[in-house]
Amino acid sequence: MGVMTLAGPPPALAPAAAPVLAVRDLVTTFETPNGTIRPVDGVSLAVAPGRTLGIVGESGCGKSMLSLSLMGLVPPPGRVAGGSVRLEGRELVGLPARALRAVRGNRVAMIFQEPMTSLNPVHTVGGQIVEAIRAHRRVPARRLRAEAVEALRQVRIPAPERRFDEYPHQLSGGMRQRVMIAMALACRPALLIADEPTTALDVTIQAQILDLLRDLQAETGMAIVLITHDLGVVAQVADEVAVMYAGRIVEHAPVGAIFDDPQHPYTIGLLGSMPRMEEDVARLVAIGGTVPPPFRLPPGCRFAPRCPFGDAACRERDPALAAVADGHAAACRKAPVEAHP
Ligand SMILES: Nc1ncnc2c1ncn2[C@@H]1O[C@H](COP(=O)(O)OP(=O)(O)OP(=O)(O)O)[C@@H](O)[C@H]1O
Ligand SMILES: [Mg+2]
Repeated sequence: MGVMTLAGPPPALAPAAAPVLAVRDLVTTFETPNGTIRPVDGVSLAVAPGRTLGIVGESGCGKSMLSLSLMGLVPPPGRVAGGSVRLEGRELVGLPARALRAVRGNRVAMIFQEPMTSLNPVHTVGGQIVEAIRAHRRVPARRLRAEAVEALRQVRIPAPERRFDEYPHQLSGGMRQRVMIAMALACRPALLIADEPTTALDVTIQAQILDLLRDLQAETGMAIVLITHDLGVVAQVADEVAVMYAGRIVEHAPVGAIFDDPQHPYTIGLLGSMPRMEEDVARLVAIGGTVPPPFRLPPGCRFAPRCPFGDAACRERDPALAAVADGHAAACRKAPVEAHP
């Protein structure tokens, strides 16, 4: 419309904070009977303090393997075979196991989909939080219980003094997930990695947990990597979004651009298959097929066999992630597009 006039210095000139997490060309391999596979195949990303990066993609695209790779937790015989993971400037790839454990415990916390697998059924929830605090912070013994109760209060658990002495099975799924978050936050992480933290919960509890993560992030300034297959979750909490397909990031953009101006046909497909209450059910378009496993990748663009816009050239040449706009990159020969037909 009109010409933009500047009444003062543009806010964008404020220097960007150094990233908490900076990943470059990360590759994770497994030796299998089918040969060497790469469930994570050249991933780069960065997350600044107080920001949330959402990582989305269908089942099997490599989200969990990526999160395990960031933490140095790839199960053997898998290993991080290349690239760099810098946490607060410190290189983690190649760090000895012991040093890595110390970093992991102190600066990074991880929460998983199913809290029952991470909580110990024979110890009280309070006892487990006390252990987490003892392992990570210097708190005098006489203060431990109060700190743990405070951690329960921080995740909005009602009557935390009473809950302290209860066992995990006495809590609802949503409460258990809150306890998990309390344990994760007890070590005051600079980075929280959450892999499908709300998938097992009903939508009301899910919304509460996501709000809670946002509030706690505002209080503590931690960076969050949130992994999910649910674009609704991403819309609610992420600042930026990385869309993953077959071990790679195929689109990366601020959350608004992902929803308003998606550039990769896979992202467009994911958006098409996201149910929207206000729209006609007939508009639900699912992408046919599934993510190819890492031992059966097609030649050229990995999405080409499922892509409604794929042509012969797409099936020959593997597109690199390239800028389509400021802060917006896509790995598609046909990007940037005005609108796909
Ligand atoms: N231990 C393993 N050994 C070999 N391949 C594995 C192993 N674990 C996972 N994979 C493969 O790595 C690929 C990525 O799996 P991953 O679990 O990261 O997917 P995901 O995106 O987290 O899926 P979901 O949404 O179902 O959790 C899949 O093809 C999977 O079969
Ligand atoms: Mg997973």
